[in-house]
Amino acid sequence: MLNLRYDFNNLLTERVGDHGIGEAELKSLGPKIEEAADAIEKMPLGFRKLPYNTRLADDITVMASELQERCDNFVVVGIGGSALGNIALHSALNHPEYNHLARPARRGPRLFVPDNVDPDRIHALLDAVDLDETVFNVITKSGGTAETMSEFLVFREALIQKLGKERHVEHLVITTDPEKGELREIVKKFGYSSLPIPPDVGGRFSVLSAVGLLSAAVTGIDVHALLKGAAEMDALCKNSKKLWENPALTGAAMHYLMDKAKGKNVQVMMPYSHALRDVADWFRQLWAESLGKRVDRKGKLVHTGQTPEKAVGVTDQHSVMQLYIEGPFDKVITFLTVDEFESTVEIPHAFEDYEAVKYLGGHTMNELINAEQRATELALTQSGKPNCAIRIKNVDERIVGALLFLLEMQTAYAGEMYGINAFDQPGVELGKNFTYGLMGRKGYEAKRREVDQAGKPNPKRVVSV
Ligand code: PA5
Repeated sequence: MLNLRYDFNNLLTERVGDHGIGEAELKSLGPKIEEAADAIEKMPLGFRKLPYNTRLADDITVMASELQERCDNFVVVGIGGSALGNIALHSALNHPEYNHLARPARRGPRLFVPDNVDPDRIHALLDAVDLDETVFNVITKSGGTAETMSEFLVFREALIQKLGKERHVEHLVITTDPEKGELREIVKKFGYSSLPIPPDVGGRFSVLSAVGLLSAAVTGIDVHALLKGAAEMDALCKNSKKLWENPALTGAAMHYLMDKAKGKNVQVMMPYSHALRDVADWFRQLWAESLGKRVDRKGKLVHTGQTPEKAVGVTDQHSVMQLYIEGPFDKVITFLTVDEFESTVEIPHAFEDYEAVKYLGGHTMNELINAEQRATELALTQSGKPNCAIRIKNVDERIVGALLFLLEMQTAYAGEMYGINAFDQPGVELGKNFTYGLMGRKGYEAKRREVDQAGKPNPKRVVSV
């Protein structure tokens, strides 16, 4: 038992009326569901091999304990698929105030993932860490992303200034393609220690590769258990092509229908768990970059994709929930809920003469957060707003591994239903290429010209005050 339930009740007409999915719609999607499942089984998908690579998990565990011994700060230098999974695993599975704890309560070095090139952020990071005790894990599959490479240059230079040319090498671990890319050449030439990213695994599907596993292991997460949960979910998906049996396939079918048949082109992931808040960010990239496509597999213009959004329960009940409940019928909500939290916080009895406070005494915060989730779910449902929930028993490595893998499989199946390639990202590449042009990278002169020719903004259309 994985102790994970994907509850689709509130997506159905019997609960949300016309905005829900009816039997007939599910029936008519039937052949597409099977085709999608078949197609995914036939594809040589690199990310599906990751849960079984326990050798890599062994090697990473050894490397991590050596790093835990010798550094007090671990900085992940990467962006997008080379950072979001690291952040999601860290917030899910480490203490919420991890960086503020002293060792041994903090199981490894402090973790920083800037995930941006904002100069103030980078500068502040260098202010905050002692480089003698800091290791930078540069992660980039292509080995050429401008953000990551520029940070690499900045941090490397800072290390050289502080520690000298020879010693700086021990403070860098490079995670990149095993063969291709100029970064791999740099690794070979300058002797940095390194880990491979399998060439057939795209960035947003790479959390269970060396990309996500090293920072996880370094901060004390059991990476073997993570892979175990993912492998169990993979087996579940492999063994069933049936609706109501295979959770990822059912999730894909439901969201595909929500988008295409019900016009719910926004999917909000709403974790009622502080630990899972960054899973929603990770999922936003996975769902958006995989399904947001201009053309289908046959080259036909389709402009597909459901916009993924993030809200956090209970916080956003007091922010965006009014819109979700009474605003347009364009959204479907996916709750993430947890039955058993790590801690129990009791609410003390006090002010017994005051009804607004009295009723809370004797309950727990655990009861309160889950009551609020149930209340929000019902309010949405009664308002005809479709919602579903992935309910997990507790947040541990095995379940998180299964949850992430479930969402990856759901994305892969959905890609097939849309008839698009869920594994490329030509739109992101276009932006990257314009950046290369603007920053003067050789071979991207035409892109520079395109940007220049796009013309300057008409000052009359800019309100300057
Ligand atoms: O999912 C993807 O492919 C992208 O988001 C990449 O992860 C991101 O652009 C970073 O690319 P790279 O790892 O090559 O630096």
